Amino acid sequence: MSQYDVIVIGSGPGGYVAAIRCAQLGLKTACVEGRETLGGTCLNIGCIPSKALLHASHQLHEAEHNFAKMGLKGKSPSVDWPQMLAYKDDVIGQNTKGIEFLFKKNKIDWLKGWGSIPEAGKVKVGDDIHEAKNIIVASGSEPTSIPNVSIDEKIVVSSTGALELGKVPKKMVVIGAGVIGLELGSVYARLGTEVQVVEFLDTITPTMDKEVSKSFLRLLKKQGLSFTLGAAVQGVETTKTKAKVTYKLRKDDSEHTVDADVVLVSTGRKPYTDGLGLEALGVEMSDRGQIKTDAHWQTNVKGIYAIGDCIDGPMLAHKAEDEGMAAAEVIAGKHGHVNYGVIPSVIYTHPEVASVGATEEELKAEGRAYKVGKFSFMGNGRAKAVFAGDGFVKLLADKETDRILGAHIIGPAAGDLIHEICVGMEFGASAEDIALTCHAHPTFSEAVREAALACGDGAIHS
Ligand code: FAD
Ligand code: NAI
Repeated sequence: MSQYDVIVIGSGPGGYVAAIRCAQLGLKTACVEGRETLGGTCLNIGCIPSKALLHASHQLHEAEHNFAKMGLKGKSPSVDWPQMLAYKDDVIGQNTKGIEFLFKKNKIDWLKGWGSIPEAGKVKVGDDIHEAKNIIVASGSEPTSIPNVSIDEKIVVSSTGALELGKVPKKMVVIGAGVIGLELGSVYARLGTEVQVVEFLDTITPTMDKEVSKSFLRLLKKQGLSFTLGAAVQGVETTKTKAKVTYKLRKDDSEHTVDADVVLVSTGRKPYTDGLGLEALGVEMSDRGQIKTDAHWQTNVKGIYAIGDCIDGPMLAHKAEDEGMAAAEVIAGKHGHVNYGVIPSVIYTHPEVASVGATEEELKAEGRAYKVGKFSFMGNGRAKAVFAGDGFVKLLADKETDRILGAHIIGPAAGDLIHEICVGMEFGASAEDIALTCHAHPTFSEAVREAALACGDGAIHS
């Protein structure tokens, strides 16, 4: 039996970051992982592989649509799907091996296998029982489905199956116009698949600022994706090679069917806590299956903490990482903190979509007096030079104090630009603070400054 200060269960972005920070703070640490490689959903079947396929398919899109305009002539590349998957797998391998290296460097023991907690202070992996003064559960999440739709990961797939299809399908139906559906739908649309997105609500990405989601929908349609909104899927029937999706339009209850080679179910994810033994321990759970914690990520059982997708909050890798660092600091007797008001979210389509803080709809509902500064990428010289003039930056600031309340960006490098606003919000910045900061020319970031100027006396280039 080995003894640790901390055992982390799960090596996703929450778990591995928590383990590294614990070790850096001088705690003897182990991390249990049942998968063959470290890195969790994010590195193996989530963030990283999806971004690799988004990158590869975007290059094809650029070659097909923009190369000739720049005087780069010749046949555009054709798709070697097995090679594209091999590239994606190589990217996964480099990243998961990177975590293994960091574990060795920080002297963290990887306890290979599925862990359970027979009692507080003990973790069982296989036949071995290890003692731990503290346990951090970072067991992550898994895909959900909807009634009458069963995922076989071949014809009806979750994101996991969609990242390793046998071939590029001719027709794909995507159920759910959220982040996964739009990112992976974009990948296949760029590779030549006819992609039809069927969404229950009347809008895509329902939690996003409405002005941005409207513009996003228009741009995705321009790229060839088709959308059936306000549609309740009734079920999916499959043969060996095909699927038939039945849905009802909510506006008139009319029933429709559509055939597809592959159906991607992207209707959300749920916490994964199977086999941990939490129920027997009396760990409190929410009715949505999340582990309940206090403000310091501790459950109602002393010494058992939980972080990441298996607790409340956005299911995002960076949220899990921040909680991992903070929980480690709490355990080490320091002051771990996460500012849940400033967690950015990014959709890695083209253009990218990024947001932080309140949406305009939320401010209206609160009855808050606010002002809006908007700037189109059409007025940004760099964006025009790289065919990326679609989209805009929208900044929301308090009407009286000018303090930034939220930012919503659709356009080139939106996922990077948003961080200027995140840092600003952490420091309590006003829109004027951004407007008075010199921004290098020609950069996309000038659009952020222009939106901030638009909150005051006006943008220059609009
Ligand atoms: P996970 O990454 O799910 O890791 C949990 C780990 O715990 C798993 O490896 C699991 O095997 C292990 N485990 C569970 N139970 C046990 C046990 N009993 N014993 C041993 N091991 C156990 N988020 C972003 O921020 N940006 C993105 O671009 C992004 N893209 C995504 C794309 C896709 C297709 C998907 C599916 C998700 C994406 N996400 C993205 C979400 C992101 O992957 C998750 O928010 C993140 O992985 C959560 O981290 P975690 O550490 O909480 O859990
Ligand atoms: P999601 O919550 O983003 O979107 C689900 C969509 O499905 C919603 O639009 C919802 O209205 C719709 N829906 C629900 N039930 C439906 C039904 N019966 N019929 C039709 N539509 C239905 O969930 P998604 O895309 O599965 O992603 C899961 C999680 O993974 C998200 O929480 C997200 O944060 C994370 N993720 C993050 C990424 C990023 O940060 N770039 C990328 C991919 C995933």
